[in-house]
Amino acid sequence: MKLIDGKQIADAIKAELAAKVAAIIDAGGDPPHLAAILVGDDPASQTYVASKEKACKAIGFTSSIYRYDADITEKKLLDVVDFLNNDPEVNGFIVQLPLPKHINAGKVLERINPAKDVDGFHPVNMGRLALGLPSYLPATPAGIMLLLERYGIETEGRHCVVLGRSNIVGTPMSLLMSRKGNPGNSTVTLCHSKTRDLGSVTRQADILIAAIGQPGFVKADMVKEGAVVIDVGIHRIADDSEKGYHITGDVDFDNVAPKCSYITPVPGGVGVMTIVSLLLNTFKSFNHEIYP
Ligand code: GUN
Repeated sequence: MKLIDGKQIADAIKAELAAKVAAIIDAGGDPPHLAAILVGDDPASQTYVASKEKACKAIGFTSSIYRYDADITEKKLLDVVDFLNNDPEVNGFIVQLPLPKHINAGKVLERINPAKDVDGFHPVNMGRLALGLPSYLPATPAGIMLLLERYGIETEGRHCVVLGRSNIVGTPMSLLMSRKGNPGNSTVTLCHSKTRDLGSVTRQADILIAAIGQPGFVKADMVKEGAVVIDVGIHRIADDSEKGYHITGDVDFDNVAPKCSYITPVPGGVGVMTIVSLLLNTFKSFNHEIYP
């Protein structure tokens, strides 16, 4: 069994980006600028946005955070989106999800200029992804593709089973693995809460991608010997440790890992790649790569 070291790959890509940013600044240019809109005080969202800011600083990107109380009106939030759409200094921005219930998240995401939608959540970017056209790829699926690529894991003609059909992970992941390319060219099955006899499907997986949102859901008897297992879950589990919690994934790691050819740990696997993907998308926006 080989552990897929997301942290090592993330650090290598960040170092490559930092060198490119340094060259831009040396040449007298302004660095790429990534902004985030953060509404309310959801702890996971706070952590994610703080990590984003830290990563930006580490590689020399400009980072800004627009913070609002949970009772912000939808109209005001749409105005902030318009402001960032029109700010020539901002190359890309994200609206951190989830948003409070009184705000229509779909409407807010649709308001983002697709050319600045570095999360890749806008229907135009999702549609372009489905059609195989250049687009910003959602950060988590893009991070997984980078891990598969950098580890040289063969995907062509292999059976990839994706657990979970969310707009953020499962659905775009299934599209990326089935479309032409390397990684890609897989035969894909997308499973969800209504899938019957789930174990009989997951046991066929050469590559199993778990994005189901339940800690330890994937058990050893659901995994074929020699499978590649990618764990997207990030769950905070309370314990007696000094920190008071530990982080675990969607996979019962201790029992599943011995059966795998490759597996991602949690933490240190997929999660650390997500922010790197966001940085790469921002750099693409800076260079007008997707929308020239
Ligand atoms: N909430 C959970 N994951 C994400 C993400 O990748 N982007 C945004 N904007 N919100 C999230």
